[in-house]
Order: sequence, then structure tokens, then C-alpha cells
Amino acid sequence: MQQVVHDPDRMRALVNEARAAGQRVGFVPTMGALHAGHTSLVAQAARECDRVAVSIFVNPMQFGPQEDFSRYPRTLAADTALLAAHDVDWIYAPEVSDVYPPGDATRIVVGGPAVLFEGERRPGHFDGVATVVCKLFLAVPADTAYFGAKDWQQTLVVKRLVCDLGLPIRIIVCPTMREPDGLAMSSRNAYLSVADRPRAVGLSKSLHRAAGLWSAGADTATIEQAMRETLSAHGVVVDYAALADPESLEPVPDDAARAVALVAGRLGSTRLIDNMELPARVTPQRDTKR
Ligand code: PAF
Repeated sequence: MQQVVHDPDRMRALVNEARAAGQRVGFVPTMGALHAGHTSLVAQAARECDRVAVSIFVNPMQFGPQEDFSRYPRTLAADTALLAAHDVDWIYAPEVSDVYPPGDATRIVVGGPAVLFEGERRPGHFDGVATVVCKLFLAVPADTAYFGAKDWQQTLVVKRLVCDLGLPIRIIVCPTMREPDGLAMSSRNAYLSVADRPRAVGLSKSLHRAAGLWSAGADTATIEQAMRETLSAHGVVVDYAALADPESLEPVPDDAARAVALVAGRLGSTRLIDNMELPARVTPQRDTKR
């Protein structure tokens, strides 16, 4: 029987009790408005763990002042109904005041992989993510937490956070789930107008174009230009379209063997992101004699 838990102390006690009884606990942190991308994380957690917790909390700290915090979909009843069909033991849905008590004044500030891309465009976003993820891990002290590769940069930030603070939790990154036309599943897809929805496929198309050129040995500038062209051809206003090192997100040299392609763009007032890790390629040896 699924239980909705609002109180962090109660949540922590339930998870600790299960672990003390030798059960492995998996945790899927979300902001709700659940879709098949989220349930794929739940399914993986259920395959690998004995008990599963899902958090639903729209975290005010990770939204900028001009962003969509107030209109972000809050659908707890529908989310609970959806999760009833999945192997979920606990839905953790705290109040804002449980997560950020009166007088709250503590933040986690992340550097490294948090600096570029979303970090540049959304100042403070990853500090808000890292702070809430840390608080969620304290309330849900699971063995393993599951995150979607759709938010590639977020997964790097969370791994950095866990490593730097020595948090006793294993992070698993699960594949992006896509609509039949290739659009990455996201709660924000619901904002797209009927006219913009077909244009949104430009994001995944630009990533496939990058993958083709990359495998053919094209240089970084050519690939990034092609990604921008594909986005623009679909009416997506480009925010960024770049190749980066999959772990550090630093720029990649032309002869890099590994890269992730990252895109962000706008359709009307909707901002979407997507990414694709490119297949490792054999590159010519650098001439070390001279
Ligand atoms: O990916 C999300 O839904 C959120 O950023 C997360 C990890 C639940 C933190 O609020």
C-alpha cells in the first residue's frame, strides 16, 4: 500500500526502518507533473531495490525570478494516481516550510560542472538544485538515487555534490525517454502550443545531425554550426548548441574521442533542453615527434 508522507522526520524514520531490516531503498527525486520519463526511473528503482520512494516537490530555490515557478504544473492527485500503478512504497511530498524552515539561510554552492551552459543562463539554478537534493537525501536516506540523463548537466552536478560532501548514496543515471517523434519527455513540454509542438522535434534532430557529423570525423565548429542551423530551421530560437566533454563540460578539441552534444532553445515562452552522448570515436594520433 502506497503512503504519502509529508513530514521529513517521518519519511527518514520509514526509510531507516526498511534499511535496518536489510531492505535496499531506491529514491527518485522529482518535481511532479510525472510522465513516462519519471516512471522509467521508478521502474529501474523497483527492479534494483526492495522499496521505492518518490519525492514530489517544486523547489522554489532552483527557479530564477523571471522563470516559471508560479506556473510550473502542480498535479499531486494525478501523480499519486499514476504512481499507484507502479511499485512505489512512499511518495514524499513536503511543504516548502519543511524544506526551507523560517529563517532559512544555508545554500550549497557548486562549481565545476555547474558553471557553463545552464549555470551561465540560469544563475543560482544549480545551487538551488544541489541544496534541495542534499535536503531530500537527508529526508530519504536511500541506498541509491535515480536521475534522468535528459538533465545531463544536473546529473554531473549531483555526482559532484555526492562526491564532495561524501554523501552515502549511489547515483544512477537512466536513459532519456522520448516521444515517438524524438522529443525528449519533459514536464515543460505541456507548455508548448499546438503550433510549436511539431517544431520542438528540432532539438533531437539537431542532436542526431551532430552525431552523424561527429562519426564522420567533422570538427567541433562544423558540428555546432550544423546543430544551430537545424534548430533554426525548425523555428527554435537557439540558446546554445555545443559539444562538450561529457564529464567536465569543458569545450572539446577537434580530435576529441568523447563528447556530449547539448542544446537549449526557445519556442514561444517555452525553454527546452536536450542532449546526446556521442559514440566514442577513433581519432588520429597526435604527432608527438615535433
Ligand atoms: O530534475 C528535477 O526534477 C529537479 O531538478 C530535482 C532533481 C527533483 C530537484 O528539485
